[in-house]
Amino acid sequence: MSRIHDALKRAEQERASSMGTHVEPAFNPPPDVQPENMPEMPSLQPSPAAMPGRGAATTYESLLARCPQPDWSPDPRTMLFFHEDDNRIGAEEFRTLRSRLYQIREKMQLKRLLVTSALPKEGKSFVAANLAQVMVRQHGRRALVIDADLRNPGMHRHFGAPPQPGLSEYLLGECDEFAALQRGPMENLFFMPAGRLAGSAPELLSNGRLKLLLQRVEPLFDWVIMDSSPVIPVSDATLVASCCDGILMVVRSNATPSDLARRAREEFPDKLLLGVVLNGAPSGKLSQSKYYYGEAVNSPT
Ligand SMILES: Nc1ncnc2c1ncn2[C@@H]1O[C@H](COP(=O)(O)OP(=O)(O)OP(=O)(O)O)[C@@H](O)[C@H]1O
Ligand SMILES: [Mg+2]
Repeated sequence: MSRIHDALKRAEQERASSMGTHVEPAFNPPPDVQPENMPEMPSLQPSPAAMPGRGAATTYESLLARCPQPDWSPDPRTMLFFHEDDNRIGAEEFRTLRSRLYQIREKMQLKRLLVTSALPKEGKSFVAANLAQVMVRQHGRRALVIDADLRNPGMHRHFGAPPQPGLSEYLLGECDEFAALQRGPMENLFFMPAGRLAGSAPELLSNGRLKLLLQRVEPLFDWVIMDSSPVIPVSDATLVASCCDGILMVVRSNATPSDLARRAREEFPDKLLLGVVLNGAPSGKLSQSKYYYGEAVNSPT
C-alpha cells in the first residue's frame, strides 16, 4: 500500500504547508476514456437469481415508468455538472477520476463503488455526487447514487432532492425500489436518498435487504455509487463495503490527520481499496481559487 501511504503522507504535508502551495498529482492522469473504447453496456435484464420469489424483475423501462421524478435544486456551489458550463473548477479532476476508474475496471469487476473517509466532512458526498454526474455525462451511461449514510445523511442536500422515502424505508421493508428511487433532472442519473432516520443503522445495513436491493438494481446501471458514514466513529461503512466491488477513500487536504486516515483504510481488505481521492488539494492552476478540488487515485495493481 505504499502508494496510498504516499498519498496520505502528501495530505499530511499539505496540512503543514499553506493552502496556496502547488501539489503534484499522485499519479499521472491518464487520457480521458471515450465512449467508443469503453466496455459494453450491461444487460438490462436482472439475472434470474436476482430476487427469487420477490416479485417481477426490475427493468430499466419499469424504472423509467414507475420511479418518481421530483424537482431537484442541485447546490450550484458544489454540484459541478448540472450546468451548461462543463469547465467549472474541479470538473476536469472528476473526468480524470472517471478515466482512472474505467482503467481499473478493465482489470477487475467494478460497478458497486463505496465512497468513504475516516472522518466527517471530508467530502464523501461531494465526491460521490460529482462522480455520478460525470459518469452519466458520457452518452448512454447510467449511474445510481445511494446515500447509505443512515446516521447523518447529506446527499439529498447536495442534489436539493427530497430526503425520503429512501434506503431506510427499503431496508425496513416498507417500500420497493421504485418508491425509494428518484430520477434526477440529468438523464440516466438516479438517486436513492437515505430516507428517514430509523432504528439501528448497523442492524438495517446487515439485515440482508441491501444485498437484495443491489442485486435487483445493479444490472440496470453502469455504476452504483454508495455514499457512507465516516469509518472511524462508526462501523457502518464496513458493512456497506461488504456489498461493494471497490472503495474510494476520501482524504481532505489540510484536514485529515494521516494516522486516522491510515487507521480507516486498515478497516478494509486491501483488494477492495481502489485508492485515495485527495479532496480540496490546491494545484498551480487553482491556487488562487476560493475552493480547491483535486483527486488522486492509486491503482491497487
Ligand atoms: N473540494 C471541495 N471544495 C469546496 N467545498 C467542498 C469540497 N468538498 C467538500 N466541500 C464542502 O464541504 C462540506 C462537507 O462536504 P461533504 O458533505 O461532501 O462531506 P461528507 O464527508 O459527506 O460529510 P459527512 O461526513 O457529514 O457526510 C460541504 O459543505 C461541501 O459542500
Ligand atoms: Mg456525507
